[in-house]
Amino acid sequence: MSENIRASLTVLFSEEEINIRITELAEQISNDYKEKKNLVLICVLKGGVFFTIDLSRKLNVECEIEFVELSSYGENFESAKEIIVNKDLICSIENKNIIIIEDIVDTGRTLNYLKNDLKINKKPLSVKTCVMLDKPSRRELDFEADYVGFTIEDKFIIGYGLDYKNKFRNIKYIGYMKKLINT
Ligand code: IMP
Ligand code: MG
Repeated sequence: MSENIRASLTVLFSEEEINIRITELAEQISNDYKEKKNLVLICVLKGGVFFTIDLSRKLNVECEIEFVELSSYGENFESAKEIIVNKDLICSIENKNIIIIEDIVDTGRTLNYLKNDLKINKKPLSVKTCVMLDKPSRRELDFEADYVGFTIEDKFIIGYGLDYKNKFRNIKYIGYMKKLINT
């Protein structure tokens, strides 16, 4: 990471805080799904990948892991306007219990689109959503995630899957940029 990026970053949640919170979420989900069968985690690429992997390894219930890749037309660092499916599900989720795993819910458009699409077109038994971060002040439609790691203010976040111009996803902590920098 270049010096000017590092200098503009403030840590919001450390690696340890993320780990503790994921352990709590995993306990909650394991408890909620202990009587249920056929749990499928659907990771929203690319941002949800670290969260999905870390969360899944802490679950005490059996699950499958599948992937979809979504982006939004005209996406820069601003959020989704029109959702584009880059990679669709390649398996059937009929009669399965789905948890969609995503890095962040911002305007709510991405998760709202995916949740409705799965429900309408793929006949799952249930669909819930789980996000590491929630920025409720940015919401453009009525959408609430079922499991939320941290609720945050309107800041531009990078790290732990979240990118700026497709970089910095692999930063281990969750940070925000005090100002946006040309990379
Ligand atoms: P939504 O559809 O507006 O809820 O936005 C979801 C997507 O916007 C996320 O999956 C991210 O790709 C992107 N996004 C929203 N806020 C941030 C942020 O603070 N940093 C990086 N990406 C973000
Ligand atoms: Mg994303």
